Amino acid sequence: MDPIPNIRRPRPLFITVEGIDGAGKSSQLAALRQALEAAGHTVVATREPGGTPLAESLRALFLHQPMDALTEALLVFAARRDHLATVIEPALAQGHTVLCDRFTDATFAYQGGGRRFDLAVLQTLEAWVQNGRQPDLTLWFDLDPALAARRRQAAREADRLEQETLDFFDRVRAGYLARAQAAPGRIVRVEAGQALADVQRDALAALQHYLQARGALA
Ligand code: TMP
Repeated sequence: MDPIPNIRRPRPLFITVEGIDGAGKSSQLAALRQALEAAGHTVVATREPGGTPLAESLRALFLHQPMDALTEALLVFAARRDHLATVIEPALAQGHTVLCDRFTDATFAYQGGGRRFDLAVLQTLEAWVQNGRQPDLTLWFDLDPALAARRRQAAREADRLEQETLDFFDRVRAGYLARAQAAPGRIVRVEAGQALADVQRDALAALQHYLQARGALA
């Protein structure tokens, strides 16, 4: 009898995508998923805030009810806690790669940068909720906030965050930049001001570069 082939599945990865509203990250997720599957990964695609019934309920409140910055931070971390415990950690433990539309960098950018909320409190919540878990790779789709606002106006009705001012989104962008500078090995900036096909080419190149570097280490 022929021996059972030894099919080696790649080590599961936790990959996140980030950027200000209108940067176009959601349109890139399908291509990233395909590239990961082509590299042998089974992919669980999810999002924050959200990804579980409880976290999706919190997302609806978060996006539409007025609240202060501390409440925002507590809600997104509560949603994240449920999402990590019931979806992300179990998926990684079963060997699946998790591709998540936003994660904690968004909290530092939006609540920390946009709302100017205390970064030390966010760091405490991050350590508390994540227990050391960080994405392996984060693709940050970076775009000029004025251009992002024009793209949003053309695309859809604005939620509570999307109605914020240009100044707010300048601070969010600066928040992402600060996170990227603090974690240069994890966060890769993708220039999102280009034509969609070029953004996709750069995002896929960043992913392939990471996968190859990872493969070389394995
Ligand atoms: P989305 O529309 O890209 O899914 O994101 C939902 C909104 O929530 C978006 O405006 C960014 C915001 N957000 C925060 O303010 N803090 C967070 O921690 C997360 C995950 C999202």
